[in-house]
Amino acid sequence: MLYKAPRGTTDILPEEQSYWTYVQDKAASLCCLYGYQPIDTPVFEDQKLFARSSSHGTDLAEKEMYVFEDRGGQLLALKAEGTAPVCRAYLEHGLFNLAQPVRLYYLSAIFRYERPQAGRYRQHHQFGFEAIGDADPSLDAEVIELAQHFLLSLGLSGFSLQLNSIGCRQCRPAYIRALLSHYAGHAQKLCPDCQTRREKNPLRLLDCKNATCQEIADSAPAIRKYLCAECQEHFQKVQQYLEILGIPFQLNNKLVRGLDYYTRTVFEFQPEEEGAQKTIGGGGRYDDLIEALGGKPTPAVGFAAGIERIILNLKTQNISLPSPPAATVFLIHIGGKAKLETVKLAATLRQAGIATISAVGDRSLKSQLRQAHNRGFPTVIIVGEEEIDAQQAILRDMSTGTQQNIPFGEIVSAVTTSCG
Ligand code: HAM
Repeated sequence: MLYKAPRGTTDILPEEQSYWTYVQDKAASLCCLYGYQPIDTPVFEDQKLFARSSSHGTDLAEKEMYVFEDRGGQLLALKAEGTAPVCRAYLEHGLFNLAQPVRLYYLSAIFRYERPQAGRYRQHHQFGFEAIGDADPSLDAEVIELAQHFLLSLGLSGFSLQLNSIGCRQCRPAYIRALLSHYAGHAQKLCPDCQTRREKNPLRLLDCKNATCQEIADSAPAIRKYLCAECQEHFQKVQQYLEILGIPFQLNNKLVRGLDYYTRTVFEFQPEEEGAQKTIGGGGRYDDLIEALGGKPTPAVGFAAGIERIILNLKTQNISLPSPPAATVFLIHIGGKAKLETVKLAATLRQAGIATISAVGDRSLKSQLRQAHNRGFPTVIIVGEEEIDAQQAILRDMSTGTQQNIPFGEIVSAVTTSCG
């Protein structure tokens, strides 16, 4: 074979599309229910946007971005995540002038140079939403509620909500000092990645999947003990709202998320099966990001889920989808004169809103009938020389094999009646 889809990317063939339509339609209708409006941002952005929003030491900034120089010499990056572009658009188009918070959602392709494996791709797609412009803890709960509502409405079950607060720029430095002093006693045992994390992004030490590093992380001090009074109160209220909403959660001291812009609330939905690449979706508050991108201090909170991972879960949980509307009528012709008539009839049926496919080429009646049968058409219309002379067509019900002659002028109403 000459060409293949690039490593870590997939073609979404027609037989897969019903999953995508199912997930995307649910996302859009729920966002409408919660007052989130759609936004689309470009596939590529100034590389500095992602570099600034996920500072040194995150995998995204260090090794995962698809960066390229365009012919004008500008350094660009394919969309590596959805939040920073939405914040950029919020600032660029003065959305801060609207009533706050501004609630936005997106369905977008995301590009990360990662080691491909099941559920981890170099191009994946996210459904994400952001509530920008308010620090109210009820907004954190609303975002979590919408995320959970989305997963449940798809029919998914068996996932847990992991929840943590990672504080703010006032209280986090004291925690980082405590964390580093804990790790100082274990420095020799750490994996090479964690050696780097100690220098560049200590919070991520808690997230390492290496067994020895996990043991060290298990005995690390818990960040929630270091939260300032404001962060503590905020987190308590988030939990209170979740309890009122009846949303169960597990407090998780080691949950820190992979991106660097988070403050206060962080959360993830994880299936019962273990494994980091299995996280269905995650998010949190990012109260400093808009300021870091050049705006005024603007608190915000959001979430994103990987659509491929959702579809993997739909398949493993055997969730059946509503069947997509299939074409109902297959038009068969016998001879060139009849073909002129079926082409015209097909157009008339489609004008009347009846999904129709016309046979092409010059195959025998038997072969055209086989085609209709194999493709599952419930209704077939046959036109031959005799039918042209009588100005009528044969309407065949494929499930029973019964046939009736219908005048050309009555085909639409006959098909509508026979197909219900
Ligand atoms: P993230 O955790 O990096 O967060 O990605 C969100 C979700 O995208 C993950 O939970 C996972 O389901 C999916 N995902 C991530 N990487 C891959 C991959 N390589 N292949 C397949 N699926 C993947 C964010 O991107 C944040 N922007 C989320 C957010 C929105 N936070 C606040 N607002």
